[in-house]
Amino acid sequence: MKALVLAGGSGTRLRPITHTSAKQLVPLANKPILFYVLEAIAAAGIREVGMIVGDTAAEVEEAVGTGDRFGLAVTYIRQDEPRGLAHCVLIAREFLGDEPFVMYLGDNFLVGGIGEFVEEFESTGVNAQILLRRVPDPQQFGVAILGDDDQVVGLVEKPKDPPSDLALVGVYVFDTTIHEAVRAIEPSWRGELEITDAIQWLFDHGHAVRAYETTGEWIDTGKKDDMLEANRVVLESIEGDVEGDVDDKSQLLGRVVIAAGARIESSVVRGPAIIGAGTVVRGSYVGPYTSIGNDCEIVESEIEHSIVLEGSTITGIRRIDESLIGRNVAVGRSDGQPVAYRLLLGDHSNVGIV
Ligand code: G1P
Repeated sequence: MKALVLAGGSGTRLRPITHTSAKQLVPLANKPILFYVLEAIAAAGIREVGMIVGDTAAEVEEAVGTGDRFGLAVTYIRQDEPRGLAHCVLIAREFLGDEPFVMYLGDNFLVGGIGEFVEEFESTGVNAQILLRRVPDPQQFGVAILGDDDQVVGLVEKPKDPPSDLALVGVYVFDTTIHEAVRAIEPSWRGELEITDAIQWLFDHGHAVRAYETTGEWIDTGKKDDMLEANRVVLESIEGDVEGDVDDKSQLLGRVVIAAGARIESSVVRGPAIIGAGTVVRGSYVGPYTSIGNDCEIVESEIEHSIVLEGSTITGIRRIDESLIGRNVAVGRSDGQPVAYRLLLGDHSNVGIV
């Protein structure tokens, strides 16, 4: 069994963060989503990973390297444009050879791993296995069509009028019949070769597609609020660990991770929260479900339920909530006249002011 991890795409819904970096590298509890994916693959006993990369190839390759840190051997496969998930299978043909493989979308955050899902595929001998999860908003996903006996009989991609509330999670297992399917289908209305259409082709041609329903937590982290929710889920299960310096005027409440080299001065950190290496928190309140990356400065400020990426400074702001702040961002107070907001924002930034 091999794995095909998709780490290309343009991440339009996460701009401006994704103008400069890959959506799969946005951290949850200070660790890129993509690393959770690779850990799940390694834990399922898979060693060989093909990683589809696009415009952000350099950044992804720098973060993941050879994969040996995860116990994996990673081969990078370049996709020239985001041409769809089935196109990824097409260009990975040589890497995949005649082995079955797990296809895992690098922005899908799934709690509980994929071990059982993979074992199930191996023991049933089907041609493909899909993972379904009930969701309140199926129109955003691939959706299962159910027959009379509640068996899955087909799939439809992002339907306006969903035939069920069972969404297609971005983790699939395929045998070699998928290669025939991805060659047979045509691009969809959005100009992409959809994996959903390729799986539909398997259904239509009498191949065995097995649906596996999960009740475990799953978040497609394409948007800011999903990212914050996934961050909340990860922080929910962290263990407290204080390696950095905390002065006696500070208070840590609940499960808090303070990385080595971080400094907490005259502040309150209420967990679950994580503060990265080299970060200084001074005269501030860091509230629950907050991840502050490395080398940040949080001074005379309050922040909660937020993600702050490395190198950013927040000074004199009360208070920040439900925010995703990129790398090397400076948020502070502006002095002088006229009293006004003074902003320098990237394209597609999104600011909420009270
Ligand atoms: C893709 C698939 C969709 C699936 C989703 C899961 O959508 O096309 O069927 O439900 O991933 O994350 P996309 O993220 O490309 O819009």
